[in-house]
Amino acid sequence: MSTIPSLSENSPHILVLGMGGTIAGLAASPNENPLQYEAGQVEVDALLAHVRSAIPTGIALATRQLANINSRNLSESLLTRLGEEIRKELANPLVRGVVVTHGTDAIEETGIFLQLVCGRYAQDLGKRVILTGAMLPANAPQADGPSNLLDAIRWASTPVDNCPGGIYAVMDGRGCMAMDLSKRHTTALNAPIAASPSSSVGLINPSWLSGVKALEAAWQEDLPIPKGDEWPWVEILTSHSGARSETISHWLDTRVQGLVLAGSGMGGFHDEWLKPLAGAAKRGIALVRTSRTGAGLTLPNIPEKDLDGCLASGKLSAPRARIALQLALNAEKQAKLAGKSLTWQDFFARIAVLPEVG
Ligand code: SIN
Repeated sequence: MSTIPSLSENSPHILVLGMGGTIAGLAASPNENPLQYEAGQVEVDALLAHVRSAIPTGIALATRQLANINSRNLSESLLTRLGEEIRKELANPLVRGVVVTHGTDAIEETGIFLQLVCGRYAQDLGKRVILTGAMLPANAPQADGPSNLLDAIRWASTPVDNCPGGIYAVMDGRGCMAMDLSKRHTTALNAPIAASPSSSVGLINPSWLSGVKALEAAWQEDLPIPKGDEWPWVEILTSHSGARSETISHWLDTRVQGLVLAGSGMGGFHDEWLKPLAGAAKRGIALVRTSRTGAGLTLPNIPEKDLDGCLASGKLSAPRARIALQLALNAEKQAKLAGKSLTWQDFFARIAVLPEVG
């Protein structure tokens, strides 16, 4: 672990974990073409050195570079490392909170992953984990990374009476639950957070805060973190006009363990899929239904009765439903090893009913 000069990891501090992303990106011609750049080029220490003079006195920082990647290349084994690292650091009495600098392309997957594997733990310890990133590279004239990073550091260090411990995210002056992130714009500075119920980081909105408390009351037990090479294989398939049965039947002779079906509208899928999906369910492939619309709930037996064993995803988008299904399948496996007869459906159902915040 490295520390920002003059600050020490031997006293209470906020840990900043670097994962890469545009926040750590560099453009070759930042003035002419800031959107043509390479993500994950600048180390987290350098990002902090840039904002050091604006960090309120009394906030000590330490850093760790876990990765420096474009988040579209995020791997399951890296998620495992991140989850284990955060659990370990939360347990350290000297760590007051954790900030994660992350690429925004896959930040929604990391957001739900952390909520499901250490949301309860962070809440019980009264510590905040805050994900942040940027839409413009570090050397762009209007780079948004520095202000996002400062907001995240300030929020991670404010007392828990203002907002409970848990897993949050900050972008463009607004904060939300990390599990609500969903990037729904290619370039807007608020892209990952605009579609999520959020609150100004400067002045937390009481109705959002009561939603946070309802969510935290509903999330009673974290799920186990899969070992790096033991993540269940789950794919996302999108229904569309002209969909073919082969899109599903192709998977029947593979070792795929789950399919997330991004349906149209309220999460219905093309009739061509019905027969092969029944075959998939018979082979024990876990099925979850969500909507490709990008907003709203996918509810059980709406618009039609569900296929036997297929669960609706609630508020989860397809990428989030995929992580949730992987964790639910892993939790079923761990429960079996412990002699308990809980199924992936039991675990997934706990996630799908989590209330909307805000
Ligand atoms: C990435 O996700 O690593 C690149 C894009 C971004 O951070 O906005």
